[in-house]
Amino acid sequence: MHEVSKSPPVDLASGNLPIVILISGRGSNMHAIAERAAQGTLPVDVRAVISDKADAPGLAIAASIQIPTRALSPRDFPDRASYDVALAKLVAGFEPKLVVLAGFMRILSPSFIATFADRILNIHPSLLPLYRGLHTHRRCLEAGDQVHGASVHFVTEELDGGPLVIQAQLKIRPDDSETTLSARVQPLEHRIYS
Ligand code: GAR
Repeated sequence: MHEVSKSPPVDLASGNLPIVILISGRGSNMHAIAERAAQGTLPVDVRAVISDKADAPGLAIAASIQIPTRALSPRDFPDRASYDVALAKLVAGFEPKLVVLAGFMRILSPSFIATFADRILNIHPSLLPLYRGLHTHRRCLEAGDQVHGASVHFVTEELDGGPLVIQAQLKIRPDDSETTLSARVQPLEHRIYS
């Protein structure tokens, strides 16, 4: 277990861990986490779901299950630094103990990461340290790998390079395509992230 050093210890016995989830798209990982929270099998309180895209399908899903949603568009800011300052302020307003990146497809600036140091988790569709960045399913097929999977890790300034929390893997089938592999990895993601 990674020790959280820069924020007060969380006493789970006295309540659920407040989290904010950041998404950019479909939001299936967010939904898996929110469902388990609603079932009472994951001791978190999803305070808000925030997206950089106002039309992210995951925002509508979150709203439909009564989770507060916000959209913050990078187009309304002159540069990445000012966007990330606004994003950090928006997130901090919900007072999360943990910031959960679930398909949030922007690289966060060092200042955002420092604001929530050791308190940001990400899910990545590969067996890190393999295939940081994009197109992970395609790249592992091109490499002729035998196994593939997903990783949950703490976020540091190093892209997809922070300490690992949990991984899940599957065997690649000879007839797997980028599409089938993505579809087979997704349920693993939902299981390990929630
Ligand atoms: C997930 O597969 C996640 O691993 C990936 O985006 C997808 C989001 O799906 N994240 C990254 O690639 C981050 N580098 P979802 O919106 O259905 O949860």
